Parts: sequence; C-alpha cells; structure tokens
Amino acid sequence: MSYKAPRGTRDIFGINVLKMNLLELKAREVFKKHGFEEVKTPIFEEASLFTRSIGQATDIVEKEMYIFEDKKGRKLALRPEGTASLARAFVEHRMDISNPVGRFFYIGEMFRYERPQAGRYRQFHQIGAEFYGNSSPTADAEIIVLAKDLLAAIGIDKISVNINSLGCEKCRPFFKEVLVKYFESLHNLCQDCQRRLKTNPLRLLDCKIDSYKFTEIPKISSCLCNSCKDDFHSVQSLLKSIGCAYTVDEKLVRGLDYYTRTIFEICSDMVGSHDAIAAGGRYDNLVKEIGGPNIPAVGFALGSERVLIAAQNIGFFNNFKGPEKIFIAIADQELLNNAFAFAMKIARYGFKGNKDISVFGPVNDKNLTSQLKFADKMQASKTIVFAREEFNKGKLLIKNMKNRTQEEVSISDV
Ligand code: HAM
Repeated sequence: MSYKAPRGTRDIFGINVLKMNLLELKAREVFKKHGFEEVKTPIFEEASLFTRSIGQATDIVEKEMYIFEDKKGRKLALRPEGTASLARAFVEHRMDISNPVGRFFYIGEMFRYERPQAGRYRQFHQIGAEFYGNSSPTADAEIIVLAKDLLAAIGIDKISVNINSLGCEKCRPFFKEVLVKYFESLHNLCQDCQRRLKTNPLRLLDCKIDSYKFTEIPKISSCLCNSCKDDFHSVQSLLKSIGCAYTVDEKLVRGLDYYTRTIFEICSDMVGSHDAIAAGGRYDNLVKEIGGPNIPAVGFALGSERVLIAAQNIGFFNNFKGPEKIFIAIADQELLNNAFAFAMKIARYGFKGNKDISVFGPVNDKNLTSQLKFADKMQASKTIVFAREEFNKGKLLIKNMKNRTQEEVSISDV
C-alpha cells in the first residue's frame, strides 16, 4: 500500500520552503512598518463561528468547510480563513483594551474543500491583516496600500486593484430589493441562483453559470446612502492621492457575507487563472455579531501559493539560491574531532564572513572519494577537506565543487 498527500494538499520542501519563508519574511517586514502585530490562532474553531461570520448562504459554508466532531461531540471546523478566528480572539482577549491601535496580522494554513487546480488547493496558506477600531476611509486605503506594498516586496507590481462598496445596513437592503426584482425578471436561472435569490441575492453576481444572462445588472452605486457614497469617494481620493491605480467594479461582491462598504480584490496576470491573489474589505459589524463590542474593522488576506506562482512567473526567483552549502570532509579519520569542531564553529559564526551557509559533515567514512560524491549529490558548492599534511601546516583544502579547482587556506583565516 502506498500513500499520497490528500487531494488538494501539497508537500512543500526544498527551495519551495525557502521561497515561502522569504515571502513571510518580507510580509513581516512590511507589517512591522505599518505597526501590525502578529497573532497565532488555532487551526480549528467552533464550526458555528465560521457559519455565523462568513454566512450560511456562501460557498465556503455551504460546500467547503472541513467540519468534524471531537470525542465529546463538539462540532469543530478547520479554519477556512483567518478573519473570523482573529475577531474571536480579539473579543475573547479584549484586545480593544490591551492594544488600542488594533492592528494585527497572521500567517498560516487555511482549509477549503474546493476543486483543486493550479493556485487553488484544499490546504493553502494565507497572510492576512486586520485593522480594528478605525471607521475612517484612511484605514480602508491603508489596508489596500499594505496589500500592494507586500506584493511589491516580492516583485509583483503589475496588478489590478478592483474595488467596490457594498453599502451599509441602511442602504444594502434597498439594493437587495432592486436586485431581487431584476433577477426575478430573468428566466431559467441555475438551481444555485434560484435558491440564493431567496437567501442571499448578492451571491448571484458571483455565479459562473448564469453570469452571461446578467446584462443589465442594477448598479449598487445608485443605491448607496449619502454616507456610504461619501465614504467610498474618500477611499478613492485617498488612493489617488498616493498614486494607487484602481478600477471600480460594480459586480464585485466577494464570497463572504461579513463585508460592509469597501471591498477589494487584487489580481495578477501572472498566476494563470482569474482568481484573485489578495482580497479584503471592511466588516464593521462582525465583532459585534460574534458577541464583542461595536468595533469597526477592515482587513485583507493574500494567498501565499498564488503570490508565489506570480512571483515565480515574473522571474523574481531567477537568482534565488538559498544558503551556500558547505561540506566538511576528512581524508584522515584521526582528524574527525578537529573537523567536527570546525564544522560547528562555522555553523555558528559563518565561513569567510558569509553567515548564509548550511554546513554538512564530517561523516564517519574512510573513503574521501565517496565523501566527495556525497558532497556533489547534496549540491555543496564547496568541500573543505581535513588532510593530515595540510592540517599539520595549519591549513585546509577548499575544493570548489562547481569548477573542480582547489585552494589551500590557513585555518586561522576562516
Ligand atoms: P478570500 O478572498 O476568501 O478572503 O481569500 C483571500 C485570498 O486567499 C484569495 O485572494 C486567494 O489568494 C487565497 N485563497 C483563497 N482560497 C484559496 C484556495 N482554495 N487555494 C489557494 N489560495 C486561496 C478571505 O479569506 C478574507 N478572510 C480576507 C479578509 C481579511 N477580509 C478581511 N480581512
């Protein structure tokens, strides 16, 4: 019997782990500059947290959640996203009191039972940020800029930013009414659309099957209340003020129900699919709805896998190698202890000033040729050989494994 990773999951190893680490490192740097603090939440939560936050009539809740019962019969779910988890942690720990700035970020695995394809997995990684306690459009604009800066830090600067406003609890019901009237005037809607027309009419705007029928969709902009209109104008003028290009996409609704007012998606041609690489928006009612204080919030998340595909296709990783691999070999078994001490020293302090190294060896193998073969196999760029004659003169042999040259260096020089 042989095992494979479950469908839609991937083992990430070798250079791909280093690329993901680099993305996370860059993200942490950008977050630090904007004053965001890291939070780690559990990978599973009470299932009802997601059902309630993301919305019953959404793809995630209807079709994609990994739900299970623990031994005491508690209904739990692997987190499909980070916003609800962070809001739960924010409320549980009264972070509004302990952290009045309210800026948090998270990095971690998410789980959705989706149909796998390039850049779409059942277990994937998100890097996300949530900004609590600020209802000003500056917070919306900062979140969009933050997402953009993070992508730019990994070489992705040709992107399209699509934005829309979903209005608030005052004006959205009016838009929903207008939408329902419009959709009811159409015939032969797919089954999902017919069902969602009753439960969540906004979702129809996302339908992949019927979208070609929706030629004259009512515009949400004409239904927004004055306060939402002003708010959306301010977000746009803030984006313009810092030269952040965007397109208003009135069909954009997002697949999660907690949003209010500004929503956005960021796409790149370099992923090979139309799926967004990052997305987010404002959700002013979520904290209150899950039992917390009335605190507005706005945030975003990017999908690490999609971002890495785009960065790869752009050529960001063309010269990316990872640390220099150095192998320590022994031509004389009696030098094992010296070679070992040397290996530990350069692992700690670096080799000839280079600290970005990985040290391997020495191994207990009498045969130098087989040690060198091993060094080749593990793609060492250098092998440092401890040989008796040179060692007695205080020297080591350094073999360049690429061009097969070698040089003698004094032990005291490295
Ligand atoms: P989302 O649009 O569902 O939003 O996901 C955000 C990003 O996660 C997507 O743009 C995509 O890059 C990545 N992603 C989603 N599903 C998959 C998948 N199956 N495979 C690979 N990547 C995927 C949210 O999750 C919201 N929580 C974002 C947010 C934060 N809104 C406010 N704060």
